[in-house]
Formats: sequence, structure tokens, C-alpha cells
Amino acid sequence: MQYDVSAGKMAGRDTDALIVPVFEGDKPAGKLEEVDALLGGLLGKVLDSGEFEPKLNKTMLLHTGGERVLLIGGGKRKEHDFDKAQQLAGAAVRALPGICRSAAFVPRGDLAPQAQGQAVSEGAGIALFRPDFYKSDRKDPKLERIELLAGKGDAKAVERGLEDGQALAEAVNFARRLADEPSNLMTPTHLAEAATTIAGGPIAVQVLEREDMERMSMGSLLGVAKGSDEPPKLIVMRYKAPKKSKVTVALVGKGITFDTGGISLKPATHMDEMKTDMSGGAAVIGAMRTLAHFRPDVNVLGIVPATENMPGGHAIKPGDVLRASNGKTIEVLNTDAEGRLVLADGIIYARNHGATHLVDIATLTGAIVTALGKITTGVFGNNQEWTDQLLAAAKRAGEKMWQMPMFQEYADMMKGDISDLKNISGSTEAGSITAAGFLMAFAEDTPWVHLDIAGTARAGKDRGYMAKGATGAGLRTMVELVRGLS
Ligand code: BES
Ligand code: ZN
Ligand code: ZN
Repeated sequence: MQYDVSAGKMAGRDTDALIVPVFEGDKPAGKLEEVDALLGGLLGKVLDSGEFEPKLNKTMLLHTGGERVLLIGGGKRKEHDFDKAQQLAGAAVRALPGICRSAAFVPRGDLAPQAQGQAVSEGAGIALFRPDFYKSDRKDPKLERIELLAGKGDAKAVERGLEDGQALAEAVNFARRLADEPSNLMTPTHLAEAATTIAGGPIAVQVLEREDMERMSMGSLLGVAKGSDEPPKLIVMRYKAPKKSKVTVALVGKGITFDTGGISLKPATHMDEMKTDMSGGAAVIGAMRTLAHFRPDVNVLGIVPATENMPGGHAIKPGDVLRASNGKTIEVLNTDAEGRLVLADGIIYARNHGATHLVDIATLTGAIVTALGKITTGVFGNNQEWTDQLLAAAKRAGEKMWQMPMFQEYADMMKGDISDLKNISGSTEAGSITAAGFLMAFAEDTPWVHLDIAGTARAGKDRGYMAKGATGAGLRTMVELVRGLS
């Protein structure tokens, strides 16, 4: 997609469509007056008639003889924010007739010019992704150019925003593609290959093999991998800040390319959805991919422990005891609680390789879906300052996240009877928090935040600008977090 800024130019464009956001109660004044003049009073007539109800993301298509005009509802002007601006841009490009190759967008609302630009390219880019890659008659959308009609002095800022939004949308779609890919085509080996494609410039990628993990005594990760014929991979990505920095943020993403549950086998219904159990890992790879564009001032380490969770003949069995790479022992009481097992060795690796701050991201528990549904990501932390920084980043990125409680009592519920830890609490209570408590035992005194995206990583149906399937949840928040640090 090509994005342009055409400063102060309403007439004399050659786009196929004009996208005009309309808020509740709008009259043809300001920007809309210019549009109305261009359309010979048509917009005023439509608004006066009351026939277009400008509810958020509702559209009306007008034929003017020349270019088409798409009105898109923006809801209440005073509720308009970055998230809504993205949704609106996305909904608009999805509603354009298939024949349109180019569109001009009239910016509305009170966002700063750079945020406005970013919202348009990010929202449109994300909206144009469709996961039906294996349909023989799949047709890619024809839209190839969007022009933003910015105010004269705003062009530079809008342009910067457009570039940032495009980098983020491409990364989100890259992560969605990885997560949507079926597990026969997205094994740990495929995931590692995808990660190596982001190497270059300030980013180095290294793929560690089973022998490397054995050398580091990663018994927890290797234990999960035992049931599968596919070799596990530990994907390590490094971004080096331009100037020396004391801060190294480690992003650790769960990379289970398929979760059958192992010997504690899952029921058949919806098991196919477990192909997205590497969504956390995909979000980390996608986030790392944007750093060559954003060049933040801190070092970033991306780690994805990747394996299948299968019930093969060598698989671990309930009651087996594993030893993680820091020497801690874990009794595996349920082989379906495998995410925390692979993350444990990932977190230890991050701490041993200079991480001063940790974020882990995982489709970790069904319990978080019960608690927060599919709208909001659950946030857990051991350090309120670091957690607050993440929550603030989520807000800026327009991703819905909510902090869950974390107290030592929850972590204590994961203490083992015959070992240091057990991988399930043995109680049906507070399943997401006890899972987080298990991870907290490995973060020790390093500031750590855990994102449980089991509910948000996948949309069960088309929702706003996001097509059904993988969503890339958490990626933009992690990027925003490291951009905000120095
Ligand atoms: N991958 C699942 C969690 C999950 C559930 C992700 C639904 C996406 C949607 C995870 O490995 C798992 O199976 N967790 C168990 C833990 C339990 C055995 C303590 C769960 O949540 O049921
Ligand atoms: Zn599982
Ligand atoms: Zn899982």
C-alpha cells in the first residue's frame, strides 16, 4: 500500500473514492464545508435529511458521477480517540467498493496530525488483512493508494505518522499470518525460519537447537518437546540500541505451534484453534521486526521457546518431574499446562543474557477468557512501576488491557509437594493468577509483566477492522513500551 499526504488539496485529485468521517450532529462546517462545496451541496443535503446515522463505523456510499464518496460514522466527536480513529479508517477501507484502487481520506476529530496519520495507515493496513490464504479463488483487494488530505502545515507530521502506522500494521499482519498458519505448515522449524527473515541492520537472529538447550539444561522446555517428533527451537532475536544503554527489555513469547494438551489430552471440539498457541511468540517476532524502523534507545531481546505439545510415545506424563535451567524442579501434574513450562526456561535465558526488564506474552489460560472475555488482555506483574509503564503503553497503542491482582499467596499455591513447584495449583480457583504466579517464581527480582492473551489473540468472528482469526494482540503495546523507554 502506498500512502501519500496531499496538503490542503480538496479538489483536483484523481482518486477513485473520497472517505469522509461524520460525527453525530455534524453540519457542513470547517472541513465538511470544503467537502460540501466540492460536492455541490450534496453533503449538506444528506446531513440535513437525517438519512445517514453517523454511528461508529456505519457507512453510506454516494455516487457523484465522478469519484465515489463514502461517508463513515465516527460516533460522538468528544469520544473520538486513537483507537476509534484506527477502527474508523479500517472500517472505511473495508466498505469501499472492490473496484476502487485509490482513496482520499478527510481527517476529522481532534487527534494530533501525527497520530491521525498513524491511525489511518495502521487501521487500514490491519483491516485489509484476510486469513483465507488457502482459498483457490482468493482475490487480493485492489486498493493500492490512500491519500490523506492534511492541513498545509501538518504534512511532515502526518507523513511520519503514516510511516509508523504502516510499519506497525505490516508487523501485526506478519504476526497474524504466522499465527493463522495451520500447524502442519507452522512447525517450530517454520517459525524459526520466519524469525530469521527479520534479521538485518540493528537486529540479529539466532536459532538454538535441541543440543543447545540440553547444554543449558532446559529440562522444562525439553520436557514439553519430548512428546513431539518435530524438533524444538529456541528463537533468540537481539536489537541493539544506537547508543549504549543500561536497559535491556526482554520480550518472551510462548511458541507452542500446536497444543494437543499432551497426555492430558484436550477434547476434540475447537482443538483446531490451538494452532494459534504460538500467538505470543508471533507477537514478539512481529514486535522485533518493527525495531529497525523505530530504533528505540534501549536494547531489546526477543525470545521464543518453540515446540509442539504432543502426546507421543516419549511424552512426559502427569506426575513427571522436570528440572528447569535454573535448577528448580517442577512436578507436571497436567501436561496441558505446558505454556508456563516453556516460558520458565525462556525467562531464565532472558535473565542470564542481560535482561533488566521482562515482558512475557502467552495464550496461557482458558481462565483468563472466563475472567475478561475476548475483549481485554490480562496483565500481571511483580513491580507496579513497570506494570504501570506497560499499561500506559497499551493505552497509547489503543489495545485494551487490564491489571489482575498478584500477591505472594497466589504464587505460594504453586509450591510443590515433592518438588520446588508444581505446574498446576490443583484448585479450580484463580487459574490465570496461579499460572502467572508460577512464572513470577522464575522472574525473581527482575521487574516482570505477564500478558495473558488467551482471549484476545484470536477473534472468533469479524470484529470492526479485525477479520476473524489471529489478531496480533499485544504486539503494538510491546513496541510502544520500548519506544517510550530510554
Ligand atoms: N493453550 C492453552 C490455553 C488456551 C485456552 C489458549 C483457550 C487459548 C484459548 C494452555 O496451554 C492450556 O491448556 N491451559 C490450561 C491450563 C490448565 C490445565 C491448568 C487451561 O487453561 O485449561
Ligand atoms: Zn495447554
Ligand atoms: Zn497452550
